[in-house]
Amino acid sequence: MSGQKQWPTQYPARRAMVVGNWKMHGDVALTRAFAAEAARQPNTRDSAEVILAPPVPFLDITRNMLSGMWSLAAQDCHWAQSGAYTGEISAEMLAEFGCGYVIVGHSERRILMGETDEYVQGKIEAALAAGLTPIMCIGETLAQHQAQETFITLASQLYHGLPSSAVQREVVIAYEPVWAIGSGLTPTPEEVQDCHDHIRTFLCTHWNAQKGESARVLYGGSVKPDNVADFLTLADVDGVLVGGASLDPTAFADIVRSAFAL
Ligand code: 13P
Repeated sequence: MSGQKQWPTQYPARRAMVVGNWKMHGDVALTRAFAAEAARQPNTRDSAEVILAPPVPFLDITRNMLSGMWSLAAQDCHWAQSGAYTGEISAEMLAEFGCGYVIVGHSERRILMGETDEYVQGKIEAALAAGLTPIMCIGETLAQHQAQETFITLASQLYHGLPSSAVQREVVIAYEPVWAIGSGLTPTPEEVQDCHDHIRTFLCTHWNAQKGESARVLYGGSVKPDNVADFLTLADVDGVLVGGASLDPTAFADIVRSAFAL
């Protein structure tokens, strides 16, 4: 696969990114298994960046075990800096724990927890204020997909969810079709490229060409070792956001190797 990817060299920020979202899974033993795997993998961050997003109780132990080999993300944050929000965690707290990234607006939170674009916007603002890089998830439901409303849904989520402050900072966008998450179904590579092209065109218009072209746009939804290259080699796909396969150290290592081989 090496050599197939044509990276836009004028935008050096666009290098491969692999994010493992453990969701509400995992334990200390799994963290140890990942630390052992990370030690066996290439870790020159110039060519690819690997990020783990374990549940909050495992952030500290994951950071210590990874000892800088891979980066750390949280799966969510609150929009306020602090306050009477029982059970919530602020972006500043995550930054203090060593997180460099935070996933925001995952469809499971939008659908199951009723998160609106307005919440997502507040969380991105909070993340940026705390020095974290938000990974903003967007994606259409099956009904929207079948009604051919994918592009309008993506544009609406970006328009209403991106704060104006984002133009000066890095926000990673993750396109995750809701119907592809955990289903074993994926869009075709052509469909993924079309959606990523649409997202990048939106960003170039909404921000400016330089900013839009240098933004990293990830694909997520049933990414596995045997299909990851189909997505990573697409012109406007800069990495992958992996759910189920990120819970298997061997499968995740295969995906990481594909990213470093680009
Ligand atoms: P799966 O890889 O299990 O489909 O999950 C994708 C996802 O939701 C990552 O955030």
